[in-house]
Amino acid sequence: MSVDPRMVHLYSYYRDAELRGATLLLKLIMRVEDSEAQVKLSRHLADETRHAWLWTKKIADMGAAPVRVLDGYQTRLGQGIGIPKTLVDLFALTVVVEERAQRRYLEHARRPDVEPDTLEILHEVTKDEKWHIGWIKNKLKELAAANGGEEKMVATLGRYREIDQRVVADLIAKEREAFGFSFSDVPDLN
Ligand SMILES: [Fe+2]
Ligand SMILES: [Fe+2]
Repeated sequence: MSVDPRMVHLYSYYRDAELRGATLLLKLIMRVEDSEAQVKLSRHLADETRHAWLWTKKIADMGAAPVRVLDGYQTRLGQGIGIPKTLVDLFALTVVVEERAQRRYLEHARRPDVEPDTLEILHEVTKDEKWHIGWIKNKLKELAAANGGEEKMVATLGRYREIDQRVVADLIAKEREAFGFSFSDVPDLN
């Protein structure tokens, strides 16, 4: 059976997002001082690298190899956001990318034609996101409160979410060009 290069690209985009998510967590690990957050970040990092491996394995099982992704979600997001300066910025960015990952995986999983092995991976990677989003959000709030920076945090989250929406709209348009539909579309069940 011949491999659809568009699917290799799609899974490579997922893989890239997981790897860049892991990179963001490594940045946090190097900066965060409290030991409880160190434990959570380590667990979280292990999850993200496992997610990257699951997509890598999926591509390998197709008889293909991951392709380099130079214009993926996080790269585009980074271009819009610039370099996050503070710890609050880094945590806020993590919240936005985690929420996006969860949303996208759920959208993909609700399509009626997903192969069972892909569906299994989608469920596997989504099930960790609830915990990821929960603890990162709490930590973000705690940090912002400690610095009296709640308003700034809300503004930063708002700005990041706006850029996220723009980036995702572009990626969805690109996906429609390649496939004739987007995996984020609500499936037509009739
Ligand atoms: Fe992940
Ligand atoms: Fe995650």
